[in-house]
Amino acid sequence: MKEQLQKIKEESLNLIKNIQNIKEIEEIRVKYLGKKGELTSILKGMKDLSNEERPAMGALANEVREEIEKAIENKKTDINEKILEKKLHDERIDVTLKTDELILGHRHPLKKTLEDLEDLFTHMGFTVYDGPEIETVENNFDLLNAPKDHPSRDMSDTFYFDKNTILRSQTSPVQIRAMKEHGAPIRMICSGRVFRSDEVDATHSPMFHQLEGLVVDENISIANLIDSLNYFVKSFFGEDMKTRFRPHYFPFTEPSLEVDTTCPRCGGEGCPSCSHTGWSMELLGCGMVHPNVLRNCGIDPEKYSGFAFGMGIDRIAMVRYQISDIRMMFDNNKKFLEQF
Ligand code: DAH
Repeated sequence: MKEQLQKIKEESLNLIKNIQNIKEIEEIRVKYLGKKGELTSILKGMKDLSNEERPAMGALANEVREEIEKAIENKKTDINEKILEKKLHDERIDVTLKTDELILGHRHPLKKTLEDLEDLFTHMGFTVYDGPEIETVENNFDLLNAPKDHPSRDMSDTFYFDKNTILRSQTSPVQIRAMKEHGAPIRMICSGRVFRSDEVDATHSPMFHQLEGLVVDENISIANLIDSLNYFVKSFFGEDMKTRFRPHYFPFTEPSLEVDTTCPRCGGEGCPSCSHTGWSMELLGCGMVHPNVLRNCGIDPEKYSGFAFGMGIDRIAMVRYQISDIRMMFDNNKKFLEQF
């Protein structure tokens, strides 16, 4: 039996040495160690040995089995390593090879302007809110204190789905949503698309973008409004930019103001583009939140006051990048977009 074991050992190890692939390994394992394998049948014959012989033979048989198992394991590792090596070699990528030029896109001038505005206002302590483009007449007009006969309510100005539902004509309804949801104090901005039934020309589009802001707290005065907006204008457009506040009318603010800035073309000297006034067209609307609006949102106007503002982002982007026609912003013309 000893010779038999010896022979199995030599023969199997020899075979394993010359194996080339995983499939052959399995065949050899079955041939020697499988249920009907050669070594297994010898082990089965152990019971016929004498009590003296059995322990030594048993030990030897185990040794042989272990050696074969080990040789099989090593061979497996060997073959797998070779496979990996071949794969790495065959599938090698030459990263130094010249490829077609990689063209990365970039942000749209409008998006860039919006993100910069949001950055600035969040830095000033404002939280960014979001509201839907499909709005109720209640949020867009009623709760914003718009009189029943306000012209912007007309079908000819605003897109109606039915008598209660519209495409929002301004971002101001998000003020209502924010105040109703969170009450006072609050300091928020929001931005997004707004829709009006306007004819398309160089400065009008039926869809454009607004940024809205609202601050409500105790002791908020018009001084806070003016200081905050001056800080915004100087940070965004540069220290040399001056502001001019003009009285105006909005239903949701009292008093209401419009803000002009120094003409970016002539720096305030006066030129044809600002009709020689030195001031550019109005930048934003603003005012002190009307007590009715606070009340409509469950905020006590005796305790709280606030200011609000709203501006057209498209127009700001046009001034910033000297774009002369709003339509270019939405045409998706590659030649135009690649300039920014
Ligand atoms: N919603 C106004 C508009 O579309 C802009 C505006 C003016 C917003 C004054 C405000 C504000 O929050 O206080 O013309």
